[in-house]
Amino acid sequence: VKRITTHILQEMKVRGEKISMLTAYDYSMARIVDGAGMDIILVGDSASNVMAGHETTLPITLDQMIYHAAAVVRGVSRALVVVDLPFGSYQGNSSEALRSTIRIMKESGAHAIKIEGGVEIKESAMRILSAGVPVMGHLGLTPQSIYKFGTYAVRAREEAEAAKLLSDAKVLEECGCFAIVLEKIPASLAKQVAEEVRIPIIGIGAGPYVDGQVLVLHDLVGITKDFNPKFLRRYADVHSVITDAVNRYIADVKSKEFPNEKEGY
Ligand code: KIV
Ligand code: NA
Repeated sequence: VKRITTHILQEMKVRGEKISMLTAYDYSMARIVDGAGMDIILVGDSASNVMAGHETTLPITLDQMIYHAAAVVRGVSRALVVVDLPFGSYQGNSSEALRSTIRIMKESGAHAIKIEGGVEIKESAMRILSAGVPVMGHLGLTPQSIYKFGTYAVRAREEAEAAKLLSDAKVLEECGCFAIVLEKIPASLAKQVAEEVRIPIIGIGAGPYVDGQVLVLHDLVGITKDFNPKFLRRYADVHSVITDAVNRYIADVKSKEFPNEKEGY
């Protein structure tokens, strides 16, 4: 199969073909998602929440991200694999950002990295790009800054924040970023960004007028139950599927229904 490249994603934007993106954190799920034909697989720092049970994305470490990323890469043959630089691995300075990126690229085999922020991360983005690593930006609700925002509410509703977001998107484009994620912002602002920059804009809670969509795998298939933002569409109820299977297994063990004579040696 032909691998998805940043160049192909750019062509998709020009053609008006929407880009599909979804998270994965392990080999087995990555195989399923890649096999289904996903364009971009994100090894998100949302692994901190959905895989490790933390309340925020802040605790996950670079080593832990590399563990997840390497597992995902082993399960992918077509999608572009993007890995989040976790909190604390790039904010210090651009050489720290580059060092963290190089570790991810060498130790996981991923194809690109993602960092949160606009003009604040310009120098880091440029340094990473100059090393030949594609960079995806992330603006709007940036979960690594949750304690600055104070809430997970919609961002950039006010004029000043909207203007900064648009200008940040242009900064990221000028740096050479290959795409930008816009999280939880008004659809009208996301539309304006997608029209005014040439690189693909991937939305999550950013409405339909962008170049692609991203969701968290565990939310999409209904493994998580307690996270219900308006933007989330659940395509399955895997929580019930697993609960039912496990309940039947317990019942069969208790009733000595399992294993039967054929299920042994
Ligand atoms: O970590 C993540 O899952 C993300 C997506 C929600 C864009 O950054
Ligand atoms: Na993330």
